[in-house]
Amino acid sequence: MFKKRIVVIAAALLACQALSAVAADTKQVEVMHWWTSGGEAKALSVLKDQLKQEGYAWKDSPIAGGGGEAARTVLRARVASNNPPDAMQMLGFSVQDYAQQGLLLNLDNVAAKGGWATLIPAPIQRFSKDDGHWYAVPIDVHSTNWIWANKKIFDELKLTPPQTFDELVADADKIRKAGYIPLAHGGQPWQEATIFDSAVMSAGGPKFYTDAMVNLDPKALGSKTMEKAFDQMRALRGMVDPNFSGRDWNLATSMVINGKAAMQIMGDWAKGEFANAGKKPGVDYLCMRYPGTQGDFIFVTDQFATFKAGDDRQAGEYAFAQAVMDKNVQAKFNQVKGSIPARLDVPSDGFDECGVKSMSDMRAALKSGTMVGSFAHGQAMPEASKTAVYDVVTHFFNSNQSSADAVKQLVTAVENSK
Ligand code: BGC
Repeated sequence: MFKKRIVVIAAALLACQALSAVAADTKQVEVMHWWTSGGEAKALSVLKDQLKQEGYAWKDSPIAGGGGEAARTVLRARVASNNPPDAMQMLGFSVQDYAQQGLLLNLDNVAAKGGWATLIPAPIQRFSKDDGHWYAVPIDVHSTNWIWANKKIFDELKLTPPQTFDELVADADKIRKAGYIPLAHGGQPWQEATIFDSAVMSAGGPKFYTDAMVNLDPKALGSKTMEKAFDQMRALRGMVDPNFSGRDWNLATSMVINGKAAMQIMGDWAKGEFANAGKKPGVDYLCMRYPGTQGDFIFVTDQFATFKAGDDRQAGEYAFAQAVMDKNVQAKFNQVKGSIPARLDVPSDGFDECGVKSMSDMRAALKSGTMVGSFAHGQAMPEASKTAVYDVVTHFFNSNQSSADAVKQLVTAVENSK
């Protein structure tokens, strides 16, 4: 009798423990991302704090590697073993890919309550939805057609922001002669692709960019204009230092911050590194649009997709999605990250001059219908074509291939990837 009672009590205790473990678990949201640089981590803490305020603990699953290739690989493995995180940072077509496999949690209710449909620009919504339903929530809008420059070097050499690509080439010459590295670059395929975004836009403008990179029109891909984009890549290759291979993007940014190099062509997450180092735009560094792309806006939007992880976890995932879209979070997060809010109703107060410029560039591009997605960051063409173009661009950048041959290879690679 006594023994039986002990067994019953022990069983009840175990059940309690199990219950509280579940309870603890559902009060926690696991978030996978690749924001591991100084500026990125600081921005993320804004979101973490908000989630905490909503009563949920943040389980952090960072996977280092700019551009997110490594994180996407880990995600695929976790999905394959039926253990996805609650939320994952995603770019472009990935959201639709996972939604179509039936793996993502539908966010329609949260979106309707929050009025997302009217707050978020249409080109951004395109990557939050599949078949008319919301599966992801955007936290930011970056753009890739930027140059970040060391102001002291520019002042010393009496340089002003180059307005044409030829001017950039002439400036690079002066910079090298003065003993500085003209262009800080990290030799990783995604970073070369990021530069290629700008080169294509500069060579042909938004319509050409759309024909080639979004519509994958063989005529545009195989054109003389595309050859010009590769010519620019060749010239840029001549501006980097010999140790560029494999360098992380934020280390390249440090070279500009420390005055070893004069410029970096990179999305405005680079601004988060300047800010994190206590540097101010217009004082320590300059932000300028890549020559020939003034007023153009090649966007990258970081979104979080929520995975179906069981009924008991839904409340946490909804709370997380709400936190991402919180007006205050979008203001503070983006001021630190270097991007601009994905909500159109966040005022520009508190954003620095580069942020204010980005906001007005995006609004102008929205009006004229020329806001185009970044090829490099998966928002122009589907994954298979993106990978094929990455290979062509990186091969070109790291060889002596001619622009004419690269263009031919580009057409074939894209055709084969479709
Ligand atoms: C993301 C940015 C991130 C950058 C470097 C991009 O793909 O959109 O948010 O800062 O990679 O890691």
